[in-house]
Amino acid sequence: MEQIKTEIETLRKQLDEHNYNYYVLNAPVISDKEFDDMMARLQKLEEEHPEYYDAGSPTQRVGSDISDGFVQVEHRYPMLSLGNTYTEGEVKAFYERVAALLAEPFAITAELKFDGTSISLTYENGLLVRAVTRGDGTRGDDVTANVKTIRSIPLKLRGSGYPSYFEMRGEVLMPWSVFEKLNREREEQEEPLFANPRNAASGTLKLQNPAAVAARGLDAYLYYMLGENLPTGNHYENMQIARGWGFKISEAMRQCHTLDDMMRYIAYWDDARKNLPVATDGIVFKVSSLSQQRQLGYTAKSPRWAIAYKFQAERALTRLDSVSFQVGRTGAVTPVANLVPVQLSGTTVKRASLHNADIIEGLDLHIGDMVYVEKGGEIIPKITGVDKTARTSQTGEKVRFIKECPVCGTPLVRYEGEAAHYCPNDTGCPPQITGKIEHFISRKAMDIDGIGSETVELFYRKGLLGDASDLYKLQPGQIASLERLGDKSATNIIAGIKASLQVPFERVVYALGIRFVGETVAKKLAFAFKNIEALVNATEEELLGVDEIGEKIASSVMAYFAEERNMDFIRRLKEAGVQMSLSEERLQGVKDRLHGAIIVISGTFSKHSRDEYKAMIENFGGKNTGSVSAKTDYILAGENMGPAKLEKANKLGVKIISEDDFLNMISD
Ligand code: IVH
Repeated sequence: MEQIKTEIETLRKQLDEHNYNYYVLNAPVISDKEFDDMMARLQKLEEEHPEYYDAGSPTQRVGSDISDGFVQVEHRYPMLSLGNTYTEGEVKAFYERVAALLAEPFAITAELKFDGTSISLTYENGLLVRAVTRGDGTRGDDVTANVKTIRSIPLKLRGSGYPSYFEMRGEVLMPWSVFEKLNREREEQEEPLFANPRNAASGTLKLQNPAAVAARGLDAYLYYMLGENLPTGNHYENMQIARGWGFKISEAMRQCHTLDDMMRYIAYWDDARKNLPVATDGIVFKVSSLSQQRQLGYTAKSPRWAIAYKFQAERALTRLDSVSFQVGRTGAVTPVANLVPVQLSGTTVKRASLHNADIIEGLDLHIGDMVYVEKGGEIIPKITGVDKTARTSQTGEKVRFIKECPVCGTPLVRYEGEAAHYCPNDTGCPPQITGKIEHFISRKAMDIDGIGSETVELFYRKGLLGDASDLYKLQPGQIASLERLGDKSATNIIAGIKASLQVPFERVVYALGIRFVGETVAKKLAFAFKNIEALVNATEEELLGVDEIGEKIASSVMAYFAEERNMDFIRRLKEAGVQMSLSEERLQGVKDRLHGAIIVISGTFSKHSRDEYKAMIENFGGKNTGSVSAKTDYILAGENMGPAKLEKANKLGVKIISEDDFLNMISD
């Protein structure tokens, strides 16, 4: 008996830890299947031994995505989840169970399991009236305003024959291309990256600003209709009809009549899914007939008429060679695993992210360990487990997080509540110094042509740059005498530096590299305070009074200007002639808000004509072009934007903005 109690307690502790890794750190260390197996074992033990009941057990927790700031709404029909299977054998067992229970012919709808965040849409008389997240399954957040910005979700249904009241359920997704672009931008802005498109989609849906949601390029597939007067008694047919009403229904949906059909579907999509523009994590099989669904009914948590088959996460086994530690511009130290190169879904993997000290500790990593690497929904592969049975006397030491900065030797610090370690030597640690200079010259900041990161490092090593203000002291002769650089590049670099003196104040504010002050925040600050003196002297209250500026940003801005050396840096930039106030011209309205942005106009508009929008784009420093390409920054989309353009935009990850978004962008 004691033994069982211990097992229950151990499982609870381990599952809590894995929940934390998954939901908080976004860095699971075991596979979904291992997690599900452990959970199933715990459930079984708790059922058999009710005397060990604990209200805090992980089995009592129903995954909830409810957050502050949204109104909560009760679901008319609860949002259930599906039973998971991982092998063809389990799918066969499902099929046989259904066959035995029904004892009559049946068809199964096979569809992809989209890996996003689920949503329930309510339509009344053909109009979208409410969109609610899953929440705890019983009640969720009302995110209607945000969902209305998703262009693949119809606000008004087409055609006819829809019930006066019904719900459509589906998955809100962020296409891979959009996800990758978003993360590139976040990296540039020093914001934490999203681990996968699923987190990015659910994070986006929870933004308190629908305009920001609109700019994120979300998509949605619908896969389930609920209501009293549905058009037919068959799920598959209802979905085809819903497509006619304007819903995005996956073309991959098929009807299966035999177990063989189902296996073929699995075999095909196991591979073909890799070419899809959105993330999928499995296949869902549903009994097609609604009356048969009713006959089969539900268990406490999930329908008996449907099952999910989860794709095997692609993983590879390889040896851990060493762990290196990289220091970024903010001083954050990132551990990276160096691996014996291995093939994984078509690419060679040599390195994997280890995230932070907790993850390393959780894996109990040793140098020389055989480790599992997975790509799953992430761009950077990660280590998900260690084959401990492969350890020998040759296996090396346990990997420990370093205590000192690998570059400058300063003891690292870990701030309360943060997972990362930092090198606090921001004035003397080389990668932090060069990182800040690189940020200063980057395209969205001072946009200095001709200097890349290698050149910055070279200048730094040669003692030509101590911080970005030294750029303005560089002499052509100093540059031309350096290896790899001749007279011509010296002239170019000097010209680029000189041109940067014309860069408007808001981009100078961004170039300073104040923590949490990205491009948009810098713009807001510049336009609110108009010059550097006013910005430096702004009180916390005044900062908080600026649109979109909260406490985190305000205190970071205050802390930056409180440092004497930062004030010194600003003084030197000012002496060099860098713009420290909004120019008269800009104050008067000839603005560069769109600074070189390439914008395509599509559809019809209600507030201004197309020609007016074209003129506005040009007046604000943007460029209007006719067709969407990889260079396009935004599509200004009105009603009835062409589907070809929409598809191309999604494929290329181009931001789609509405009239209102656009007008916001060019106004104060
Ligand atoms: S059907 C009662 N179909 O997977 C059945 N779900 O664990 C309701 N999902 O919460 C779900 N693709 O977020 C269904 N084609 C699909 C799906 C799908 C993704 C998600 C959904 C659900 C979870 C099931």
